[in-house]
Amino acid sequence: MMIIAQITDTHILPKGQVWLDRPETEVTERLKLVVQHLNNLNPRPDVLLLTGDSVDKGSEEAYQHLKEILKPLSIPLYVIPGNHDDREKMRKAFSAEAYMPEKGFIQYVIDDYPVRLIGLDTHVPNEDYGLLCKERLAWLEKKLKTNPAKPTLLFMHHFPMKVGQRCIDDIICRVEGEFESFLLSSPHVLGIVAGHYHKVSAGLFGGKLCFVAPSVAPSHYFATGEDEFVTAIDLTHPSFVLHRWTNGFQMVSESLQALKFDKRLPMNSLPLYGATLPPCEPSKRAKQSDWNKKEIASPPSRFARRRDRNDDGGDMVC
Ligand SMILES: [Fe+2]
Ligand SMILES: [Fe+2]
Repeated sequence: MMIIAQITDTHILPKGQVWLDRPETEVTERLKLVVQHLNNLNPRPDVLLLTGDSVDKGSEEAYQHLKEILKPLSIPLYVIPGNHDDREKMRKAFSAEAYMPEKGFIQYVIDDYPVRLIGLDTHVPNEDYGLLCKERLAWLEKKLKTNPAKPTLLFMHHFPMKVGQRCIDDIICRVEGEFESFLLSSPHVLGIVAGHYHKVSAGLFGGKLCFVAPSVAPSHYFATGEDEFVTAIDLTHPSFVLHRWTNGFQMVSESLQALKFDKRLPMNSLPLYGATLPPCEPSKRAKQSDWNKKEIASPPSRFARRRDRNDDGGDMVC
């Protein structure tokens, strides 16, 4: 089992500045909340991928602020640039990291885990669209051929598939070469994970899963698929993703929201499920936080009755 966490499009600004000049966007607080949630996950993810647009305007001050917010993070972090990043300023900010290339594109291979991770640089200075040029594709092809037996996940900011949203489809990843057919003939590639859309989306590209993660910054709302611009900014909760690799070539991706605890209803606080909710794993349940330990007296629930009918005694909710 390997858990690959992913965050994307954090759009951090220098300290004191706010995203889109609207304080309610709260990008700093949103990332802090996500970091807190990631640190509290049990089991904790093995790695965290930050798939671009890590800062909003690519300034040194923004990267310093980003690093300050990420400081409490207790998971190994890997970053790649998006269209809002500045390649050289990102390189400088993360130069102490062993994976960070000293020059050229910020793309690299992480071989320390059961799943091989390959970060791709789709950044094009002063453009919103992304690009996998011949040079970047040739690099990828070479790296993929060096270990064709190991499950491999590609991560990049711009995704290469169209999502049916006019203004987004104009700024996806452009490809100079046979990326799609190359993926089709690379059975060890689990898929691609990306960001950029500020919405969750998934599809097939080159026969592989292409998972577009929702943003930490507020998400995009489009009234119609033909909109020339984003119609509105949705002030929903910040999101992150967990990609769980279980074995061989099996991987499951799950999108989660970083909710504040006062907005989450524990199942054992609900009268229907309450005190009769059986523990799925007593040893783990005992470790959960106080609000989840509290039992509320209630009559036997519908769930408990259903469980009684479960011949093998298995737990149907957990
Ligand atoms: Fe973004
Ligand atoms: Fe982007």
